[in-house]
Amino acid sequence: RQDSLRQTLIAAKVVPVLTIERVSDAVPLARALVAGGVCTLEITLRTAAAIDAAKAVIAEVPDAIVGIGTVLSAADFEQAHKLGARFTVSPGATPALLEAAAKSDLPLLPGVATASEIMQAREYGFDTLKFFPAEQAGGRAMLRAWGGPFPDLRVCPTGGITEANAAEWLSEPTVLAVGGSWICQASYIRAGDWAGITAMCLRTMKALSKPLS
Ligand code: 3PG
Repeated sequence: RQDSLRQTLIAAKVVPVLTIERVSDAVPLARALVAGGVCTLEITLRTAAAIDAAKAVIAEVPDAIVGIGTVLSAADFEQAHKLGARFTVSPGATPALLEAAAKSDLPLLPGVATASEIMQAREYGFDTLKFFPAEQAGGRAMLRAWGGPFPDLRVCPTGGITEANAAEWLSEPTVLAVGGSWICQASYIRAGDWAGITAMCLRTMKALSKPLS
């Protein structure tokens, strides 16, 4: 399960964190992302539309690999499972959530920002983690410091990742993929600027496929 999540993240390189306010935006938005080469999506449970939006994308955009984010409880995790999500993401890592996910085939990317949280996640068998909020909690220097005690740790950082720093983050050997909302900003979604979102994805994927100069 952890291996399959690692492979999904490595293939993705970037995971947009999506906050969808209108169900009708979900399918055109997902199609715009896929058209730009961004197929692994995190639909967050932050809006009333989130569940129906995820259902629509799973049913109508077969090339999208849909994860459910902002999973805060075992109940949220179960809901994601029922929806047919391919993976789940949490900003944190409570014992109740880790226990529910440890018993399931559905992968969870638990959120951590401290050594104790990493140790707790490892106690439940999780070593592929979301570093959140990555920039605010210590940035790449923090990630490198964890490399000493936790050489097997692999992360997807989110929180403060932008077009300007995404390639630097991805160049860290422990970073499998970068996540964030920058690739799919609310103003674009509100305006229905699907071409603008596809263009942003193409630009990002191009930047992330080049070695850093
Ligand atoms: C998340 O939940 O991962 C964050 O909201 C993403 O952070 P960002 O908005 O700074 O990209």
